[in-house]
Parts: sequence; structure tokens; C-alpha cells
Amino acid sequence: MPFAHITGWGMYVPEPVLTNNDLAKMVDTNDQWIRERTGIRERHIARETEFPSTLGVEAALKALAVANLAPTELDLIICTSSSPEYIFPATACLIQDQIGATKAGAFDIQAACTGFIFSVNMAAQAIRSGSIKNALVVGTEVLSRIINWTDRNTCILFGDGAGAFVLQASDKPGGVISAVMHSDGSGADALSLPGGGTRCPATEITVREGKHFVHMDGKEVFRFATRVMGHAVTEALESANMKLEDVACIVPHQANYRIIETAARYLKLPMDKFMVNVDRYGNTSTASIPIATVEALQNKRIRPGDKVVFVGFGGGLTWGAMTVEWTGPLPTPPTQKKKHIYPLQYRIFAKVRSLLLRILRRIEGLLSRKEL
Ligand code: ACO
Repeated sequence: MPFAHITGWGMYVPEPVLTNNDLAKMVDTNDQWIRERTGIRERHIARETEFPSTLGVEAALKALAVANLAPTELDLIICTSSSPEYIFPATACLIQDQIGATKAGAFDIQAACTGFIFSVNMAAQAIRSGSIKNALVVGTEVLSRIINWTDRNTCILFGDGAGAFVLQASDKPGGVISAVMHSDGSGADALSLPGGGTRCPATEITVREGKHFVHMDGKEVFRFATRVMGHAVTEALESANMKLEDVACIVPHQANYRIIETAARYLKLPMDKFMVNVDRYGNTSTASIPIATVEALQNKRIRPGDKVVFVGFGGGLTWGAMTVEWTGPLPTPPTQKKKHIYPLQYRIFAKVRSLLLRILRRIEGLLSRKEL
């Protein structure tokens, strides 16, 4: 059975920054309250021309560059987002088109902020089954478009951004070792976007009532998160036959500093075992774990050979954890010539390809109309 290694990683956040002081001009809040209750100082907000696929493509191309893998070599793209571009088509398909991943199947997974762990697990399972070799997983969010900027309970928490991993098959042991996935739909009301689906289709009334915005019972989510996080880490470690002492770094979902502190207390671990960057990005939902991982790698908090745990929770309710033995890019076998891949250049190829396909589809439509 092949192993599923994480061989590439990338992140992207839009340039504009919204600080707590900026927020204090918009709603009745202040920097001190937000920092003390959440640990957040600032967050990035997408420009009008940026969408989940735009952000996701940037992160994906960086991840492919690290893995030295061409988009055309991908077999599978999974995108996970709490703020997808559309109900359908899947954001994964938009990313597939924009990076020119000509042979990849692409679909979305919806598990709110736990989506990245669930998606990496699904990609790893597909690799371990032997059915595919190369997968791309993208977590991408433009949450700023589904936040009520007059609601101080929610608007202080979230930010925009994207992160991506490339997973590849190898006979070398390591990579994704274990994962646990959990859900409890009885808590669905605690965190939801009630409007715009088929239960509550978008109408003038739903918009007037703000049902197209994130609704959250903050206290309920806080209680749930602190209950499940530490336990999920223990479960994933047990199933990997690993001990807490073996772990170099825990990368938790970045929702609230106090939630991470509670998990650290439960696990009797010092806070420096946890990668935390919620102060600079806020809660970027599905993108928070890959963004934190990329920064942990940049800061050498994660090195090749390290054992790492990812843990997350979110709407659904959903929660899960994953253990990984970090490998880094796979070495090129001596029998293979070292290839040089510049995934950024594929963007141009992908644009031309997409345009040609659209023109061909138009011509085909005109011709078939004549036949009828
Ligand atoms: N600024 C100033 N005061 C505020 C603000 C604000 N932004 N928001 C609330 N307050 C006030 C409240 O009105 C309340 O005042 P009162 O005591 O006079 O009534 C007081 O501050 C305390 O409010 P609480 O709601 O009790 O504050 P709490 O400590 O619970 O923190 C928070 C609220 C930060 C939302 C916390 O509950 C939390 O982080 N919950 C988890 C949220 C979360 O992680 N969501 C994402 C999940 S992942 C996903 O799937 C997207």
C-alpha cells in the first residue's frame, strides 16, 4: 500500500488589512476587548476582484512549486470552503480550470472549519488505495462577503485567505498516518448561514432579515470547541500509535486563542507546542490550518521527520484531528532526470486553454442548433 506524503504547501492572503481599531470605527467594540477575548489583532480582507478561486489558485500554485509538480500531473483536486464561490459549480472546478489541471477530477467538501482535515484525509485515502498518485487540497475563504459588518458578535472574528497542500504517493513510509473525523448535526444551529439554500431560498425577505450572513451562538461554539479539541488529538495519536511526547508541533484551527489555550491545558502541554497565528489572520475557517502550517514551516517549527498533529472544529458541528510524519518534497529518484517545473507559467497556458474550450463549446452549440 503506498503512503500519502504532503510534498507541497502554499498560502495566500489578500493584501488589505483590517485592524481592530478599524473595526472599532464600524461597530461598538475596541482593540482591547477583541485581543483579550480572541487573541486577534488584525485580519486580511479580499479586494472586490478577488474570489475564493482567485485566492485558492495563488495558494495552489505555490504548493505545486514546492512539490515540483505540474498541474497537468494532478489526478484529483479537493477544495473545501465555508464561503464557496457558488452553491454549484464546485470551487474546485474553477481552480482546476484556472491552473490547467487537465486530467484532475475536482469537487468540493463542506465541513465548515474542519473541512481541511476531512479533505486531506479523503485525498490521502484515495492515494493509499492506489487509485491516484497526486492530489491537491485547497482551503479557501472570502468570509468577508458573508459576514454582517454591523454584528459585533461575528464580524470581529473572521478573515480571508487560502492555503493548499499537495499530496503524493510514495513507497517510503511517512506522510498522513491517522485521522479521526466526527460530526454532530444536533448542533447545526450553533453556526450556520441559513439563507440562500433550498430550505430558505434567497428572497427580498431573507435578505432583509440578514439570513445570507453567518449566524453564530458564540458561547455554544466556544463550549463545544473546548470540549472536543484535546480529545480529538488524543484519539488521532492513539490510532497512529504515537505519544504526545513524540509530537513536535500541533497545528490547531485558528479560531480563538483562548480555545487553543484550553486544549493545551487539557493535554497538559505548553502553549509553545501549538502553532498560533490567529493574531494576524483571524479565523480563516478552512484555510487556517494550511496557513498556520506554512508559517510553522517557514519558522522551522516543523522540520522533515517531525511528527505533527492537525486539529480542527467547526459548523455542522464537525471536528477532527490528523497525525502526519512530515516528509517535505520527495527526493527525485536517481533514475529520473531532475525536472524543472514553473507552475506559475501554467496560469497563462490555463487561461488560453479555458478560452479555447469556451469558444469550441460555443461553435459546437451553433452547429448542433443547425442540425436540429
Ligand atoms: N466588542 C465588545 N464587546 C462585546 C463584543 C465585541 N465585539 N461582542 C460581545 N461583547 C460584549 C457582550 O455584549 C457581553 O456584554 P454583557 O456582559 O454586557 O452582556 C460581553 O462582551 C461578553 O460577551 P460574550 O459573548 O460572553 O463574550 P465571550 O467571552 O463568550 O466571547 C466570542 C465571544 C469571542 C465570540 C467567543 O464566544 C468565541 O470565540 N466563540 C467561538 C466562536 C468560534 O470559534 N466560531 C468559529 C467556529 S469555526 C467555523 O466553523 C467557522
